[in-house]
Amino acid sequence: MKLFINPGHLCGHLNPELQGHFSEHLGRCIYEGLYVGEDNKDIPNVNGMRSDVVEALRNIKIPVLRWPGGCFADEYHWKDGIGPKDKRKKMINTHWGGVVEDNSFGTHEFMELCRQLGCKAYVNGNVGSGTVQEMSEWVEYMTMEGVSPMADMRKANGHEEPWRVDYFGVGNENWGCGGNMTPEYYGNLYRRYQTYVRNYDPKKPIFKIACGSNADDYEWTDVVLKTCFKSPEQFHGFMDGISLHYYTVPDTWETKGGAVEFDEKFWYKTLKKTLFMDELISRQKAIMEKYDKKNKVALIVDEWGTWYDVEKGTNPGFLYQQNTIRDALVAGINLNIFNKHCDRVKMANIAQLVNVLQSVILTEGEKMIKTPTYHVFDMYKHHQDAELVESYVENETIGTEDDKVPALHESVSLGKDGKLHITLCNLSAEKDYEIESIITDKQVRSVSAEIVGGDMHDHNTFDDPEKVTKKVFEGAKADGSKVSFTIPKCSVMHLAVEI
Ligand code: AHR
Repeated sequence: MKLFINPGHLCGHLNPELQGHFSEHLGRCIYEGLYVGEDNKDIPNVNGMRSDVVEALRNIKIPVLRWPGGCFADEYHWKDGIGPKDKRKKMINTHWGGVVEDNSFGTHEFMELCRQLGCKAYVNGNVGSGTVQEMSEWVEYMTMEGVSPMADMRKANGHEEPWRVDYFGVGNENWGCGGNMTPEYYGNLYRRYQTYVRNYDPKKPIFKIACGSNADDYEWTDVVLKTCFKSPEQFHGFMDGISLHYYTVPDTWETKGGAVEFDEKFWYKTLKKTLFMDELISRQKAIMEKYDKKNKVALIVDEWGTWYDVEKGTNPGFLYQQNTIRDALVAGINLNIFNKHCDRVKMANIAQLVNVLQSVILTEGEKMIKTPTYHVFDMYKHHQDAELVESYVENETIGTEDDKVPALHESVSLGKDGKLHITLCNLSAEKDYEIESIITDKQVRSVSAEIVGGDMHDHNTFDDPEKVTKKVFEGAKADGSKVSFTIPKCSVMHLAVEI
């Protein structure tokens, strides 16, 4: 198959945030996965954040972290999570597993985590069960520098300087767990709540994100935008982004399918459902275009990833699942899709960071493993801050009778390092493909490659943590303006091409 790459045609900037993450007060994501407590002597930590996880996440250049939810965000009352820990209110996390939430991880701890990770902060506010005042005061608490009741409270709690809040979500899934609202109602609430998400430092404006649709609920997007825009010609500046949530659920929401036990039929079904992200984004973009012709509002895919049946023997409310080569493909395809839609898609956040759904990291006590998805992020990090390059791959349709998919899926960028970065997925369960990449008007000086692949069921466990890793791939050869190689079945590759 031929892969055509035209470095003379750059198609848009790839925000690092396209490789963003999400961490919710859900299961063992925050507690144990990220935060083990300042007094923990068994798990090495800095100010309570586990050092092994922080180091691993810094390696993949985690660009942004969303917190505190998810559904939890619309039940979260931020004042419960500040001040002396022994005085913080305890609550039951009714959404997720009915466990006690002791609020020991709150605003200060989240900001400390972002500092250690070196990433941007995306805070999600509470519209479902919180007041405008509560939301407005949270923003004041976090970002106000001068004298004010909330800034004084922050200082009294030990943080003199304001933090930077890069992104702020005005509610989460308000069509469902965030209040079961209609789009008209939410649209009006959004107008009101966002008014009080003030920019206390005009040099560091907060990027305001409205709650967007559940997958293909196009009407939600349409009505929310109509409510927030006076007319297609008149943009109020109320909104910087609108979200989209879409999960890859192999079967149905009732019986989703196993994370590790699946057959070829479910391999293709899962990949086909993942590819639906492309159609979803295209159609959401078309609606946005109706109201926002100047492309001022971004599409923010702030929840995506696989959602399987929970691992047997675990709390069903904790959403713990394993992660195989199939997840590596799901990650590679989605990240390629976001790259190709970088004109509108400015951030995407995989759900979720540690121990929940399609995680990049799993922990068990003091042990930690990196999942196949982690290694895909590790290869794709070269796209961060790069320019998308026009590319096209010849293809064939493969799969089962019911679930047909293209065999190959790619995106290409020109990095700040001057190299072309090609990421290519082979979706086939049985066939390797010979690839000839043809680079328009350029001579190839050198090529290096790496790969994540194996049997479709391969995954890492605490007893066998390195079964799936990123490996150096020696088989890529440069000749003139061409790079040739064979991509094995069930694999994701990254090639760095010096031109
Ligand atoms: O990521 C798990 C949950 O999925 C989130 O809390 C919610 O926003 C979505 O329904």
